[in-house]
Amino acid sequence: MMKRITPEMLDGLTELFVETFNAPPWNDLWTREQARTRLLDIMKRPKFLGLADVRDGRPVGMVMGHAEQSYDGLHFQILEFCVANDRKGQGIGAEMMKQFTDYLDKKGITAVYLLTMRSSSGEDFYLKQGFKTISEMCVMSKRYGT
Ligand SMILES: CC(C)(COP(=O)(O)OP(=O)(O)OC[C@H]1O[C@@H](n2cnc3c(N)ncnc32)[C@H](O)[C@@H]1OP(=O)(O)O)[C@@H](O)C(=O)NCCC(=O)NCCS
Repeated sequence: MMKRITPEMLDGLTELFVETFNAPPWNDLWTREQARTRLLDIMKRPKFLGLADVRDGRPVGMVMGHAEQSYDGLHFQILEFCVANDRKGQGIGAEMMKQFTDYLDKKGITAVYLLTMRSSSGEDFYLKQGFKTISEMCVMSKRYGT
């Protein structure tokens, strides 16, 4: 069942996040505490919206992010999107994206965007959900220390 994400869901979402992103293809090194802080920080953003697919009390998928005002309406950035390792490939991600973008549409969002690795399974998945890779833009960063 698809549910609006609320802070009471933080423990379950933290488990889902750590399990998913510490596994291939990302093989991140999240601790539970870091993941919990990240998810809580996102939930506290102005204009936060998120949905979780909850089965038997356990979140098996989540999508979350925040809207930002632009001159042509509200733009929404998806900051996290994942499906539990044991539930991948069952259509949960596609259904979650459909329901979430319908929900954003009803909230008056005019564009949705996100960052992911080029030529990754993430890009392949989002292309199938109707997203386009924007070749005119680049992501820039500057790192400090080593
Ligand atoms: C990417 C992810 C969200 C996909 O969720 P999912 O529930 O497994 O995807 P679905 O079963 O709904 O698949 C929907 C479509 O995307 C395709 N797809 C799903 N995972 C894919 C992958 N790893 N590589 C290529 N295509 C993929 C499916 O083949 C399916 O295509 P179809 O419509 O032609 O049948 C999930 O694998 C995941 O959580 N991965 C780890 C976290 C992550 O990468 N998040 C997104 C990038 S930050």
